[in-house]
Amino acid sequence: ESFSMRALFQEPIIKIIMTQDEQKQAVAQAALQYVQVGEIIGIGTGSTTNLFIDELAKIKHKIEGAVASSEATAARLKQHGIEVLSLNSVADLPVYIDGADEITRNMHMIKGGGGALTREKIIAAVARKFICIADQSKLVKVLGKFPLPVEVIPMARSYVAREIALLGGQPAWRQDFTTDNGNVILDIHNLNIMNPVELESTLNQITGVVTNGLFARRGADVLLMGTDQGVETIT
Ligand code: 5RP
Repeated sequence: ESFSMRALFQEPIIKIIMTQDEQKQAVAQAALQYVQVGEIIGIGTGSTTNLFIDELAKIKHKIEGAVASSEATAARLKQHGIEVLSLNSVADLPVYIDGADEITRNMHMIKGGGGALTREKIIAAVARKFICIADQSKLVKVLGKFPLPVEVIPMARSYVAREIALLGGQPAWRQDFTTDNGNVILDIHNLNIMNPVELESTLNQITGVVTNGLFARRGADVLLMGTDQGVETIT
């Protein structure tokens, strides 16, 4: 075999490029390291979290059960035979594992693309550690390109939308969508969120708002981020 023939058929030097789905799978698997034997795990909502649930199912006999942030997550957990516990019956939650729509290196997030923000925020408040699992497309310098979801009591929808407009945002009513809590979602477009901690509080002060998708006052503790080369851990 001549050198030129070898060169012709040899694989080029391979740069490992992971697709977005592969990155999600990699971080879902990596999150298992935060699951301790005998514990109850808080579980978020979304496509990345779904992959984590599938991983968790493989070690389900080692955990006591899970607390779910949505009906969809509860259904998937039950399908896998993982016991779903009420948050009210849980006094101590060591970890909460969930995705994000956007996250900064300061660990501030926008969540709620799937509309589960309120229950997610409640479980995150109880959990000692928030482990965010996300592919690299979610990492941003400034939050706000992803429209910020706000859960609103239905009768307050127009009032809250007017108040948000006064703050400089452009709210859009998420069509044909009702949250697990029976409420509506307004997605706020064209925000450039320079102070997420302050905006989180300001939006929550509007009467009729249940909560908003800024997770800044209680951000993530660990980010497992999928990159082209594998999982990067940011703390
Ligand atoms: C749902 C969420 C999700 O965590 C967020 O939308 C990310 O989802 P995905 O993992 O599918 O990208 O906040 O309310």
